[in-house]
Amino acid sequence: MKPGHSIHLADEAATIALADALARQLPARAVVWLHGDLGAGKSTLARAMLRALGVQGSIRSPTYTLVERYPIADGDALHLDLYRIGDAGELEFLGLDADDGRLWLVEWPERGAGGLPPADLHVRLEVAGSGRTISFEAGTETGRDWLEKLEEPERLLTQVPDSQGIC
Ligand SMILES: Nc1ncnc2c1ncn2[C@@H]1O[C@H](COP(=O)(O)OP(=O)(O)OP(=O)(O)O)[C@@H](O)[C@H]1O
Ligand SMILES: [Mg+2]
Repeated sequence: MKPGHSIHLADEAATIALADALARQLPARAVVWLHGDLGAGKSTLARAMLRALGVQGSIRSPTYTLVERYPIADGDALHLDLYRIGDAGELEFLGLDADDGRLWLVEWPERGAGGLPPADLHVRLEVAGSGRTISFEAGTETGRDWLEKLEEPERLLTQVPDSQGIC
């Protein structure tokens, strides 16, 4: 997928299909900053990635705990939501280390800037009519490789009906 390319996600199933594609190509270690307003679909994408990576049972919202941790293959996934953080210094109380975890999925990362590991991948979500648009920007070589491995978005999203069994 070309960097900066934006994709229309017509419904939640499309967001889930994209999350599955990201999970299929997950690098050995990755930090993802999820940008977007309230209701843009950040948690939907994060939850779908965690599911695709084999997380079973409930996936709690980290709104109040700030972080939730899930074991996945070869490490942990950390899901953060920093909407309610006072300042980036509060991140220290969570006792997280930049080397901790295989995957970081961070909602409202701008509120923790300075206390977070840098993003390999920036994901931007926006409301667009009844759907969403999503765009990506790589922050590191890892992020660039990840984006390159993603299938062409059009192909990816035409797979949605099949994978959802509603074709
Ligand atoms: N592609 C999509 N098209 C239409 N609706 C979607 C899409 N993706 C997610 N949604 C819906 O958007 C709503 C809000 O999603 P979500 O909770 O993931 O947002 P969020 O960005 O995490 O918000 P917050 O900042 O409050 O945590 C949900 O009802 C979800 O079903
Ligand atoms: Mg959310």
